[in-house]
Amino acid sequence: MSFEGSSFRRLLQKLKSRKRRPKSCSESMIKPIGQTYLDLLIRALSGELSDNVLYRNAQLLQAEEGEEVPTLISLQTCRELLGKATQEFGSYLGKGETAESYLNLSPKELFGYLNWMNPIGSPHTMCGADNIYQVEACVEDIFRENIPGDLMETGVWKGGMTVLMRGLLKAYNCHDRLVWVADSFSGLPQPDPKKNLKDAIFWYLMTPLEHLAIPFEYVEALFQRYDLLDDQVRFLPGWFKDTLPAAPIEKLALLRMDGDLYESTRDTLEHMYPKVSKGGYIIVDDYGIPAGCRDAVDEYRRARGIAEPIQKINDVSVFWRKMGV
Ligand SMILES: C[S@@+](CC[C@H](N)C(=O)[O-])C[C@H]1O[C@@H](n2cnc3c(N)ncnc32)[C@H](O)[C@@H]1O
Repeated sequence: MSFEGSSFRRLLQKLKSRKRRPKSCSESMIKPIGQTYLDLLIRALSGELSDNVLYRNAQLLQAEEGEEVPTLISLQTCRELLGKATQEFGSYLGKGETAESYLNLSPKELFGYLNWMNPIGSPHTMCGADNIYQVEACVEDIFRENIPGDLMETGVWKGGMTVLMRGLLKAYNCHDRLVWVADSFSGLPQPDPKKNLKDAIFWYLMTPLEHLAIPFEYVEALFQRYDLLDDQVRFLPGWFKDTLPAAPIEKLALLRMDGDLYESTRDTLEHMYPKVSKGGYIIVDDYGIPAGCRDAVDEYRRARGIAEPIQKINDVSVFWRKMGV
């Protein structure tokens, strides 16, 4: 690895102007050492302390400025992949339609996605700062207002956001809530193009990343590396449609959904939304991505008459608070 060249200096400059964490309004509720622990935990999970991640980010900056970066998945590969997807799903697409037009996803955008989600050289969560601070803020509210229930993420990848949840319980000295970690640990399920073409194309485009598969052993070891693996962490390995209906969860104070696809989101809502307590939070990481998540959320909310307003976290992610039971 080398940090030569102006791109690394530009990155360092960008880092200096990076988004500051909003000041916590609950600092009086936890001891200062707890806040320091959380700051450090978040920096570690988000990759701020990792040379490999800094190096990857410098490369992405270089690429953004039009330079060839041989270690990234190239723009040319992304063009070819979109072309192949058009061929693969040609019989489902309309006349003159391409994978690119159907998903409204340019090769450059695909390049951004694939290189951001590449497990090599990435942080322990692919979620950015906005989403990390949103989880922190929700959990603060949950403690401040005593909202009953556990914390859960469906779709964990390397597991970073669930490590954060367990770290938050530790910082608040909480021993009576669990963190639920639900994933196939073998990536996204393959969608049927007849049922959901958007998801099928999205899945196909994730082929260079093995459809986001991260093995269970990695995630379990990540909890261990942060010294946060204990009986307050519960794993639900398998497809959501199989694991969620029988999951021994009584109540949830926070449900964080990050399964990208229509069925993954629908299955999570179907089985977990009824368990969210009044005052609990629902975070949808993938509302704005070019896959079926948003359709599943909109359909579920319409069918159940959920009127709590959807609030933006950033251009892609949203949340709402359950006010009825
Ligand atoms: C975008 S990644 C999650 C990112 C993660 N939340 C983070 O903090 O980096 C999507 C994850 O959802 C999982 N997934 C999607 N649909 C699933 C399903 N139906 N059943 C089980 N796991 C699923 C994939 O295995 C993958 O790990």
